[in-house]
Amino acid sequence: MESGPSSEYLHIRKNMNTRRKEHTMAIIRVQDVHKRYPLGKTEVHAVKGVSFEITRGDFISIAGPSGSGKSTILNLIGCIDTPSEGSVHIEETETGSLSDDAITRLRHQVLGFIFQSFNLIPVLDVYENIEFPLLLDKKSREGGSERREWIDYLIRMVGLEEWRDHRPGELSGGQRQRVAIARALATRPGIVLADEPTANLDSATGEEIIILMKKMNKDLGTTFIFSTHDQNIVSIADHVIRLKDGLIVENRREEKVRTL
Ligand SMILES: Nc1ncnc2c1ncn2[C@@H]1O[C@H](COP(=O)(O)OP(=O)(O)OP(=O)(O)O)[C@@H](O)[C@H]1O
Ligand SMILES: [Mg+2]
Repeated sequence: MESGPSSEYLHIRKNMNTRRKEHTMAIIRVQDVHKRYPLGKTEVHAVKGVSFEITRGDFISIAGPSGSGKSTILNLIGCIDTPSEGSVHIEETETGSLSDDAITRLRHQVLGFIFQSFNLIPVLDVYENIEFPLLLDKKSREGGSERREWIDYLIRMVGLEEWRDHRPGELSGGQRQRVAIARALATRPGIVLADEPTANLDSATGEEIIILMKKMNKDLGTTFIFSTHDQNIVSIADHVIRLKDGLIVENRREEKVRTL
C-alpha cells in the first residue's frame, strides 16, 4: 500500500534536484592510470595508461573481453587498489593522497558496491541486509523512524515488499541482486560500482537488473558504473568505456535530454 509521498521521499527529490544542477561536473577523473601486478619475477601490465572522466548522474558501462582490465579499473575507482602510475580523483579529491581512515570514510559515504555474487548476509532478512551498512555509522544508526522509512522506500523501489522478512536463501538470484542494489543505495552514495552484476544471472534476469539500476540512477541521481561482457546491456548505458588489453578502444558518451 502506498502511503503518499513521505517527508523522506520529498527530501530525496530535493537532493536529486540539487544534484541535477551539478550535472555537468565530472564526479570522477582517471588520468594516465597504469596498473602493474607483480607476477613471480615479472609483472602483468593490466592497465596501460587510461584517462577518462565520468559525469555526475550518468549510467556508465565498462565493457570489454575477459582480462581487458574492467575489474582493475573498478577496483581503482573503488579504492580497493591503488594505481601504479597516474591518478584517480573522486569529487575533486585525489584518492591516492588519502589516509586509510579517509579512504574508509569515502568508501562508506560516497561509494556503494554491488557484487557479481550478491554478497548478502545469509542470517539476515531482506530488510536487515539493506539496513546493515547504515548500522556501521553512528549517525544513521540513530535515525529511528526516518531510517525505517528510507529502507521501506528502497524495498518498494526494488519491488520486494512481499519478501521483506525473507532471508537470501529463500530468494532467486534476481531477487538477491535487487536486495544488493537497495543495500548499495542505503547510505545514499553518489556513486555505485558494480563489477559484472549480471554475470550470475540468466540474460533476461540480467537485463531486468540493469533496467532497475537505470531506474534508480534516474530517480535518485546516483551515478552507476558497471562492467559487463553482455552487449545487450551495454546499449542501455549513457556512457560506454570499452577496454582491450588494458587500453581504452572506445569512449562514447551520449548527450542526453534528461526527463523525469
Ligand atoms: N591481483 C592480480 N594479480 C596479478 N594479475 C592480475 C591481478 N588482477 C588482475 N590481474 C591481471 O590483470 C589483467 C586484467 O584483469 P581484470 O580482472 O581487470 O580483467 P577483466 O576485464 O575484469 O576480466 P573478466 O572479464 O574476466 O573479469 C588480467 O591479465 C589479469 O590476469
Ligand atoms: Mg572482471
